[in-house]
Amino acid sequence: MKTTQLRHLIPAGFLLVVLFSITSCNEGGKTKSHRDAFIDSLLSRMTLEEKIGQMTLLTSGWSQTGPSMNEDYKKMIRNGHCGNVFNALTVEYNRKLQRMAVEETRLGIPLLFGYDVIHGFKTIFPIPLATSCSWDTAMIRQTARLASKEAAAAGVTWTFNPMADISRDPRWGRIAEGAGEDPFLASAIARAKVKGHQGRTLSDPLTLAACVKHMAAYGDPRAGRDYNTVDMSLRRLREVYLPPYQAAVEAGAATVMTAFNDLNGIPATGNKFLLTNILRNEWHFDGMVVTDYTSIPEMVDHGYARDEKHAGELALNAGVDMDMQGSTFHNHLKKSVRQDKISEQQINQAVRRVLGLKYDLGLFEDPYRYLDEQREDTIIHSQQMMDHALASAKESVVLLKNEPHEAGQILPMEQQPASMALIGPLADSRSDMLGTWHAAGTDSLVTTLKEGIEQEFPGTTIHYARGCETTGTDQSGFDQALAAARKSEVIVMAVGENFRQSGEAASRAHINLPGVQLELVKKMVQTGKPLVVVLMAGRPLAIPWIDQNVAAILNAWHLGTRAGDAVADILSGDTNPSGKLTSTFPRTTGQIPIFYSVKNTGRPLDPDNKYTSKYLDVPNDPLYPFGYGLSYTQFEYENLKLNRSEINFKQNLQVSVQVKNTGQYKGEEIVQLYTRDMVGSVTRPVKELKGFRKIALKPGEQKQVEFTLSADDLKLYDPKMNHIAEPGKFKVFVGTSSANVLEESFTLVKP
Ligand code: GLC
Repeated sequence: MKTTQLRHLIPAGFLLVVLFSITSCNEGGKTKSHRDAFIDSLLSRMTLEEKIGQMTLLTSGWSQTGPSMNEDYKKMIRNGHCGNVFNALTVEYNRKLQRMAVEETRLGIPLLFGYDVIHGFKTIFPIPLATSCSWDTAMIRQTARLASKEAAAAGVTWTFNPMADISRDPRWGRIAEGAGEDPFLASAIARAKVKGHQGRTLSDPLTLAACVKHMAAYGDPRAGRDYNTVDMSLRRLREVYLPPYQAAVEAGAATVMTAFNDLNGIPATGNKFLLTNILRNEWHFDGMVVTDYTSIPEMVDHGYARDEKHAGELALNAGVDMDMQGSTFHNHLKKSVRQDKISEQQINQAVRRVLGLKYDLGLFEDPYRYLDEQREDTIIHSQQMMDHALASAKESVVLLKNEPHEAGQILPMEQQPASMALIGPLADSRSDMLGTWHAAGTDSLVTTLKEGIEQEFPGTTIHYARGCETTGTDQSGFDQALAAARKSEVIVMAVGENFRQSGEAASRAHINLPGVQLELVKKMVQTGKPLVVVLMAGRPLAIPWIDQNVAAILNAWHLGTRAGDAVADILSGDTNPSGKLTSTFPRTTGQIPIFYSVKNTGRPLDPDNKYTSKYLDVPNDPLYPFGYGLSYTQFEYENLKLNRSEINFKQNLQVSVQVKNTGQYKGEEIVQLYTRDMVGSVTRPVKELKGFRKIALKPGEQKQVEFTLSADDLKLYDPKMNHIAEPGKFKVFVGTSSANVLEESFTLVKP
């Protein structure tokens, strides 16, 4: 049947299907939904090649997000061998491709259009690690919603987001893309992103199907080197790395993406334990599983598949439904069916999930529903997008240090200085502000820090000097920087990483300031002028010398399109920084992996005892801990109270604390709640985040902050991997960071 016939028949076809569904019953005697009936009906008319075509995802030539392949995807679309495309954008272009599928193929099945809408689409918001430091799940959800709105307006229907990989190793470049080291916070953020992307219904033309990735534990590669081996206990996998993926699935994520890495010896893309036992049987995920870019054929390189045909069989048997850019299903699955290595039933199951997603997106009702030039023109770069880019950027900045200089308090610069030296390779850079995975982001609209400061400090003479690059050893720009510094009252430096130094395939063996930037900072310190260092990077940087020798340090990540005005607003005090670190800052690479929820060990650090757990050359504690971030004001915590000294398995523990703004600025504070299980059937971390609240306080204002804990919040995986809470003594901590808390205790008593 020609597609146009199918298209024109759909109303009638729909009628048939509705009639069919009212009368039809599946074996369980339940009435099949018209969705299922529609899919079954379509499936029954598909050839094996057409089915395999729906399991194939190819990149358009418009942007490259992996090893380039020379698929002629347009030819494959036309002959029904490619049912899904990614990296294609604009209504005009996607309509061309959609017409090929709908009007030139036998059954006219519409295409999915995937894209990495990770932190914005055309308007770029701060990198995910930055927005995670806001701990503001409502803002993060809105960020995903707006990113989806902009991408959907450009013809995209599916985003490969949220990236929910926990990482505790800043050598790994993709730490930039995640929500830090803690599973509790990262789970809350993953849920928010799924809700933001998918909205109330997938058929809404301004929402995107989400894709939680990378299943699983991609964020723990050995030595922090991207794509490297992952090997960990089942307990660590379940306690630390799986929860954010599970949270995203429970929030309704429509799809899941497999990871490149092998996990405990089995590549994630061929890992039945992950993709069937956990994802399908434990989490009851009924959506679609797509691989990462060519990760099926890469199982040959892993030494897990004999050849690509074998890799395709391993992937399908593990639970994969769609092959991203590997063309492995396209090239080999038909033969695997002929050889009975794979059943057509398995293929039908995968195709049902793909067709189900297209049905839920409303693509069968109207394949062109996402393709509206007028919407594209009004939504992309709208004021709403630009305003949110600024608001989200301001909430993502973390004030790391703010001590007075001999000339007085440097930040906030409420009195506009007469002159300012603006120094560093990131002070007037556009593309670097967009950070990694900035997809279709246009750097022409970026406000650089220089532009932001010029707007925010109209009365100040700015002496700008780049000084050096983010890479290399060239110090020839130092003199110009010194000259600028000498004629200025105050110095602001913008140093860190360019956008290519984090993200995929961008691990760094040293996490210091790259190039000769530290040497440049030292030159600026030697001038004795008041100095603010603004760090702009995609990962925590080891900056011990700067921490020791610079009075004011702002961590501004890569903040996106409005980076410049966001940082300038904070420098002037128009905005009081409120971000708190979600990734520990090591003093040096040698401390990695370093994070707050460590075990106590049998020989916890005792400075007076040689034989305790420590280094000879570096302290154990990090430069800046998880949950740390300063404000221009001060917050005082007192009266930590528990409503009981013990609870049973049916009772709740009410935890309350008084927080007071004792400074002179209004500000926001992220109040954190941690617990510690003092004795368990397995060793337990010294702290685990169990709650957080972001509160706003005017100077002098005080609020009571409440939390509720129950036995469910205290579970662990016991030696037999039962997920249970165990009676015993617990500590409760509430404070301004994982290292600065008030403490109380309680007991969980037997039921
Ligand atoms: C990349 C990334 C993945 C991304 C995909 C499509 O290799 O690993 O996160 O979604 O390819 O661009």
